[in-house]
Amino acid sequence: MYKTLKIGVFYGGWSSEREVSVRSGKNVLNALLRKNYNATGIDITRNNIKDIVCSHTFDTVFLLTHGKGGEDGTIQGLLESLNINYTGSDVTASALCMDKILTKYFFSGNALPTAPYHIIDSDPLEKNNYRFPAVIKPRREGSSVGVSVLNNMNDLHNYLKEQNNCSEGYLLEDYIKGREFTCGIIGTGNSAMALPVLEIRPKNQFYDYEAKYTDGMTNFIVPAEIQHELSNKIKELSLNAYRAAGCRDFGRVDSIVSDEGDIYLLEINTLPGMTNLSDLPMEAKADGMCYDDLVEHILLSALKRL
Ligand SMILES: Nc1ncnc2c1ncn2[C@@H]1O[C@H](COP(=O)(O)OP(=O)(O)O)[C@@H](O)[C@H]1O
Ligand SMILES: [Mg+2]
Repeated sequence: MYKTLKIGVFYGGWSSEREVSVRSGKNVLNALLRKNYNATGIDITRNNIKDIVCSHTFDTVFLLTHGKGGEDGTIQGLLESLNINYTGSDVTASALCMDKILTKYFFSGNALPTAPYHIIDSDPLEKNNYRFPAVIKPRREGSSVGVSVLNNMNDLHNYLKEQNNCSEGYLLEDYIKGREFTCGIIGTGNSAMALPVLEIRPKNQFYDYEAKYTDGMTNFIVPAEIQHELSNKIKELSLNAYRAAGCRDFGRVDSIVSDEGDIYLLEINTLPGMTNLSDLPMEAKADGMCYDDLVEHILLSALKRL
């Protein structure tokens, strides 16, 4: 009966992650068509969004709009107002996870381990207790845009001068030396489950924009070659974070494990990449779930809300 429902696959958008979003969207659309769903793909832009949501009668929208505008609660709010069901996290969880400062408060408030941090929203000279090396991140960006490793106060001043505005603020975090992992989650609430942990081994100093989007700049190992106990701990923390934030249908939690063996959560991605080569589909595959089944699993999780 689900196969007759009208599914709109929204991709594109106007964030810096537009290109990846188009790839995610086309892959998901093809998977739904192969599964015989009544799906239509739409490249969303600032110009067409109003007409599309007003003139179409989708039973459910499959959102693949990564980044600002599409992953931060904005488009979710629009669909919510029009009473259109959609895949993925709701307005609150999306907005929370897109905001790196609010995410820090959320982690701390839920006893979820995260690196020590400072918020930089005024003249950094006012404080002098920063620790280096540190990682600085703009409050509301993704894809490592604006993320930089700083070694001293001088680096911090130069960084802020180059960025040229401090209006939204920045997060300054202790640099954690160790290994980076990501853990995909599928489902909602008590039905949510963690996929095998994937290790990200960038060739650069950290998983920067170049390492993310240039072929061969990063090695991915899934399942991660780590002790069972550590893998289970990463899964457990990732699942706890996902559930506590109220995330739905699918998501991915990034973390770093320090050389001392401590786990630090970096962030929750509420609308992770869904190209056939993205992390989450790779993790699902390692668990024996093919791409098309993964897409259907996410859709069915959202259809329960109809
Ligand atoms: N505290 C940290 N210590 C070491 N590396 C970090 C730290 N925070 C972030 N990074 C590196 O920067 C990358 C991007 O940071 P992240 O917080 O995930 O922001 P984004 O939303 O841009 O992906 C991470 O994947 C990791 O490689
Ligand atoms: Mg990240």
